[in-house]
Amino acid sequence: MPAFKTLDDVDVAGKRVLVRVDLNVPVADGAVTDATRIERVAPTILELSNKGAKVILLAHFGRPKDGPAPEFSLKPIAHAVAKVIDRNVHFAEDSIGDKAAEAVAKLNNGEILLLENTRFYKGEEKNDPTYVAALAANGDLYVNDAFSAAHRAHASTEGLARVLPAHAGRTMQAELDALEKGLGNPERPVVAIVGGAKVSSKLDLLGNLVQKVDALVIGGGMANTFLAAQGVKVGKSLCEHDLAATAREIMAKANAANCTIILPVDAIVAWHFEANAPHRAYGLDAIPDDGMILDVGPQSIERIKAAIDDARTLVWNGPLGAFELPPFDQATVAAARHVAARSKAGRLVSVAGGGDTVAALNHAGVADDFSYVSTAGGAFLEWMEGKPLPGVDILKR
Ligand code: 3PG
Ligand code: MG
Repeated sequence: MPAFKTLDDVDVAGKRVLVRVDLNVPVADGAVTDATRIERVAPTILELSNKGAKVILLAHFGRPKDGPAPEFSLKPIAHAVAKVIDRNVHFAEDSIGDKAAEAVAKLNNGEILLLENTRFYKGEEKNDPTYVAALAANGDLYVNDAFSAAHRAHASTEGLARVLPAHAGRTMQAELDALEKGLGNPERPVVAIVGGAKVSSKLDLLGNLVQKVDALVIGGGMANTFLAAQGVKVGKSLCEHDLAATAREIMAKANAANCTIILPVDAIVAWHFEANAPHRAYGLDAIPDDGMILDVGPQSIERIKAAIDDARTLVWNGPLGAFELPPFDQATVAAARHVAARSKAGRLVSVAGGGDTVAALNHAGVADDFSYVSTAGGAFLEWMEGKPLPGVDILKR
């Protein structure tokens, strides 16, 4: 029994349903370059439409600063949504007021309408009750299917749930279910893999994880900070030397919580930060002064695979090396494939998300074999940090 209401708990036929979706998709030259987020919300839109709801989509796009601006219009995205769901999608040039009301009034049951960027109003990000009320005037029900915007307490992500009957959409439901299995109430042992460039951007995340997981694999540039804090000479590698004390504190916290920290035991070193740069594997006692670590080494990969084998649950954020520059993608690819194989074999529940993670897993060609890959960036990180997500919490009231 989920702690929130879903689409199973409501009769939507003939109702005006305001559906918050995340259409903040990458666009180049007016075309959507990655429609994953649209594909994720398609089931909710189609289910509501098939059940005879008047489906009114609410979304933000980019971060417009001063009201309406053509480059932040959702209009081109309406076409992209229509293409994905293979239905007609109407568009209204305003999210509130006459234009929105007229477009809503014209909707027949089952029809779909996208309203203009909610962030064209300051009231959106301020969660201003006046803007909330203006949005709510066009709906009988509210459905939130935008987990990836749930770390924002905005009018369309949080405020509406206070004033209309609120339900989680299918993607939100799947996301929360996956996250519950990942860290909320996981099968143990739980292993986390955390990579990426900087410790400084992931302090809260590491601090929270060491208290929740049985083992924490640290890779990427941030591993260098931990290695250096233990006296390893990391040459010219990316390293936050000023965070040595913080790294040691995290390790002490892990120790106290019985969380094993798994750091690289060897490294792939190159002399230029570029694809196919000449490189060699070194033990940690022999990193050249003029070299830089661009990936974890082969022995580390075996150690990480063993940790994956020991786990029943795995949570992943961030690449283990400079995966965008081959061959420094090898550890990330090898670990991702190992996780995928274990997941496919039913031995592992694997949840991944945040920032570069999805790109790294797509690059490894295995995103589909993970138990769940979140399209959320900031929201996934804040969840991993153990922070409350306003858009989720309000659904649980
Ligand atoms: C995202 O793309 O991370 C979400 O849509 C949230 O967007 P924001 O970071 O601009 O709030
Ligand atoms: Mg963001």
